[in-house]
Formats: sequence, C-alpha cells, structure tokens
Amino acid sequence: MTTRPQVQDELCIENVSASALADAYGTPVFVYSAAAITEAYESFTRAFAGHPTQVCYAVKANSNLGVLSLLARLGAGFDIVSGGELERVLMAGGQPDRIVFSGVGKQVWEIERALQVGIHCFNIESPQEIELIQSVAARLDRPAPVSFRVNPDVDAGTHPYISTGLRENKFGIAIADAPALYASAASLSHLRIIGVDCHIGSQITQLAPFLDAAERILMLVDTLAADGINLQHIDLGGGIGVRYQNEEPVDLDAYAGALLQLMGHRTQTLVFEPGRFIVANAGTLLTRVLSLKSNGDKHFAIVDAGMNDLIRPALYSAWQSITNTVSREGGEIRDYDIVGPICETGDFLGKQRALNLATGDLLAVASAGAYGFTMSSNYNSRCRAAEVMVMNDQHQCVRQRESIADLVRLESLFTLKTE
Ligand code: LLP
Repeated sequence: MTTRPQVQDELCIENVSASALADAYGTPVFVYSAAAITEAYESFTRAFAGHPTQVCYAVKANSNLGVLSLLARLGAGFDIVSGGELERVLMAGGQPDRIVFSGVGKQVWEIERALQVGIHCFNIESPQEIELIQSVAARLDRPAPVSFRVNPDVDAGTHPYISTGLRENKFGIAIADAPALYASAASLSHLRIIGVDCHIGSQITQLAPFLDAAERILMLVDTLAADGINLQHIDLGGGIGVRYQNEEPVDLDAYAGALLQLMGHRTQTLVFEPGRFIVANAGTLLTRVLSLKSNGDKHFAIVDAGMNDLIRPALYSAWQSITNTVSREGGEIRDYDIVGPICETGDFLGKQRALNLATGDLLAVASAGAYGFTMSSNYNSRCRAAEVMVMNDQHQCVRQRESIADLVRLESLFTLKTE
C-alpha cells in the first residue's frame, strides 16, 4: 500500500489559500496582496511624513489596472515612461497632476497627450529633448513643466543591467552640464522649470549611494538658486531594494532621517519613484509541477510557468524564493532545478532548490509582484498568465488569462498573390 504524503499546512495569500486561487484561476497565475501593496505604500509616506513628499509609483514595475487603481485610491502619484503607461494611469483614476514622465525616448504624440491632460512634470533626459518639448509645447501653446534628469555619477553597486546613475549609462545629463542647460531652458518661451531629478539604479540595498546622490543634487539646487532658478521639487527616483533572499534592505526611516538632515532648511517637495519597493513582495507567482525528472543525480521539476512569465532569473540571474505551497511528511528532499516548458536552456525559475516535490504540486515563486507580469511575453506562443488581487478573504481577477484567440488577434494570413 502506498501512503500518500500528508498535507500539513498550506500557503495562504492574505486569507485565501493558494490552492483555492489555483482552482479558481488556473496556473500560472500572479497573485497580488492588496494589504501588502497598501502597507508598502503607506510605510513610504509615513517615513517622509515630516516633509512635503509625493510618492510617484513607477508604473513599469507592475502596470495592472487593479494595482494602479488601488494605488490611485491611496493617493499615489505615478512615474511613467510611455504614452501607454499614461493611459493606464488615467484609466485607473490616477490624477494627472501627480504624474512625472521619465524616459530617454519620449515621442511627439506622447508629449502632446501628456501636455493635454496636464501632467505634473516631464523629466528631461537630454539637450535635444529640451528642444522637442519646447516645440510641442509652443505649438499647443501650453507651457510644459519640466525637470532635468541629472546623472550624479554615483555607483549604486547593483547588477550592471539595472544601474543607471553612472556616466557610462545612457540616462540623464551630466551634473556638470546641468547649470548651463537649466539656464538655456529658462530662456525658452514654453518651458516652466520646476524641478530636478535623478534615478541611480534599482534594487539598491545600501543607504550611502542614495545620500551621495542627494548631496550632489542639493549642491546643484543651491547653484541654480544662486543663478535665480528656484526649483519646487527634488525627485530622487526609485531604486529602493527589497529582500528577495537575505538582503538587508535600506531602512526607510533611516533614509528619511538622513535625507531630511541633508535637506536642512530647504523646502522643496521631495518626490520619489519607487516601483519594486511597492509591489515586489506583494506578488506571488503560482505554478504547477508538470513532471519530475532526473538525469543521474541532477533533478528537474518542470513547471507550467516559464521565462516568458518571469524572465528575471534568466535575464539577471535573479534569485527568487520558490516554495511548495503545501508541506508534507514523507517523500524526499532533493535539489531541484525548477524549469519551464520553453525550448531554451535559460528557461529556469530557480536552480538547486532543496524541495520535497511530487507531480501536481503547486509552487509559489515569491517576490514576483515587480517586473514579473510587465516583463512577460508570448514567447513559444504561450498565453500570458492571469493576475488576481486578494484582499482579506476575497479575491478578484484583475487580468484574465490570455486565450489562443488573443495570441493571434492582430495577425493575418499572407494573401498577396505569389508569382
Ligand atoms: N524611475 C526610473 C526613472 C526608473 O528607470 C526606474 C526603474 C524606477 C524609477 C523604478 O525603480 P525601482 O524602484 O523599481 O527599482 N527589470 C529590472 C528592473 C529595471 C528597473 C528600471 N528602472 C528588474 O527586474 O530587476
């Protein structure tokens, strides 16, 4: 007689069990906790409560309308990088005057739309963009509120693909060039200079790079003030790291304390653009074990989520916790590579994970709320996963699983006559 391993306890997201969610929505599925998003957002605003502050959530981290509408309700502003993100924020009920528009390649249609709806600010990334925004704003006769994204040349010590504040990166203008650019922009008819911004990288777990950058930016703010250019806000970007494994993330209260000390008597509103911090650990990717196989002493668990659903492990060698949603007695703990169904060796979610697995088990990939779904694709003609929001014991589908019809909706057969 075989004894089935006994289920002891089960992972819950808020008060809903993972298996109930998998039964209701299928797998793979991204599940977000409304309470975790709310707590992350509010811990940010609480830390900086002693100073006028606007948190502009970086939409790229997770742009689901459910997530955006929750944050809009909490009073968040938004950091966008495209016309598509702008429309999402508006659809989600975000206030236009709390939107900052970042990005190195803004196009005319995007600038027009942002001016028409009345965003808070464009974060200008290059001298050419000064001309572009001035010309669009002049044509529409709507002054454009602008800030310059300055590159403070600090090393944030992150993965090279996500570090942005070094001179060698494509982002922003060199801090040494900033006073002259501000002066020339100030002479243009349709630009209204209101701020300065920087963003030095992502998943930063040390306080020092943030404070280094802030110090340099504040020196610039003072130089500009001496030149008669008085700014209303100082945007220090996003980049606050979270715990994926055993990182010790920046303590926000310590950050706020040190930063407000640096601010001294300065009264400019502080703007932040956190993405990952708000949503990463509020999200879980649930995936089912399709089969187990071993090549000698190498063990694989093939699951129904792949690199098309979560590309961070393949792209950045990112480590995210993977657990079985049930714990059991019996069975054997083995070191598994958790791999997807995609025809690529890079298609893995985690390697060498000590787990007690059986076919059909439901696994939870943690910290999947940021840069998970937003970076997913249809590679191998796989339908993108569903997304679900949980609140207490309730749950709501905030994006349906794609269908095969969705996959080909915009395509057609080739019908031109061949010779
Ligand atoms: N502001 C700007 C101008 C940015 O470029 C970014 C992220 C953020 C804010 C938000 O950064 P966060 O607070 O989320 O670190 N796909 C990578 C991360 C790329 C981040 C790009 N820029 C990942 O999965 O790790």
